[in-house]
Amino acid sequence: MQAVRIRSLLLTLILALIIGAMPALAHPGHDTKPPEAKKAILLVSFGTSMPKAQAVFDGVDAAFKNAFPGVEIRWAFTSKTVRRIVAEKQGKTWLSPAEALAALKDQGYNKVIVQSLHVIPGAEFHDLVATVEGFKVMGGCFMVRLGMPLCSTTGDLKAVAAILKKSPPAKLAKGEAVVFMGHGTHHPAGVAYPAMAYILGRGHAPFYMGTVEGYPSLDDVVALLKAAKVKKAYLVPFMTVAGDHATNDMAGDEPDSWKSVINKAGIKTKCVLEPITTNPEIIAIYVGHAKAALQGGHH
Ligand code: CO
Repeated sequence: MQAVRIRSLLLTLILALIIGAMPALAHPGHDTKPPEAKKAILLVSFGTSMPKAQAVFDGVDAAFKNAFPGVEIRWAFTSKTVRRIVAEKQGKTWLSPAEALAALKDQGYNKVIVQSLHVIPGAEFHDLVATVEGFKVMGGCFMVRLGMPLCSTTGDLKAVAAILKKSPPAKLAKGEAVVFMGHGTHHPAGVAYPAMAYILGRGHAPFYMGTVEGYPSLDDVVALLKAAKVKKAYLVPFMTVAGDHATNDMAGDEPDSWKSVINKAGIKTKCVLEPITTNPEIIAIYVGHAKAALQGGHH
């Protein structure tokens, strides 16, 4: 009985030693010192098929190159539809996150931060989590970590709200307000939008938050604007790209656009087709999230 117990103890010890030695075995030729880190940051956006709206990616790219000298900066786009349109109509090859990660692994990058450029940790982000987890289990020399979206914590929401409030599209006169249009989602992370509405102004003038596909709705915002006797509202996308939603759902001439619905309520509008990612302070939050991931803070 005793001998069996000792034997199984010994076996466990030997197994532990073998497992402990495995990282070294995984780097042939580097038994003593670890391989040199070849770092890359993969920026991941939903993408947009509107060529004009794509210009915003250049600013984000430049800011990341500036913040991470010597680190390879690459891009991937999560929307299959957008990738297809961009390939067919603009002749550009945009990679999916899995394709871009496979290329980086193939090219010998061994420390990769996947930085989500999403606004909230919603469905798109969670698809990305699954992809990154898949690359994590490959193990070996390939280390991959995920940087969180813009509004991932209450601290993020407060920081973003403070930036939005101090940089309105114009000097606001009495009776003027700013309405931010978020995307909205059925995903549990959609709670970020009512939280943002609360932090921005607790539902009072001059800062309001609504969403295209979630809560708060446009009707919710119109009711608040009316109650506060707002005369003129600046409409601003709370999105990283001023693409189809901003151009059509917000600023379009159709009777159900935000502009038309708010006008119909007797309130003047001015549409500002600037995405939040043209603001350097917003980009700085994404950069901060990538730095946290690089240092092993998140995921
Ligand atoms: Co959408």
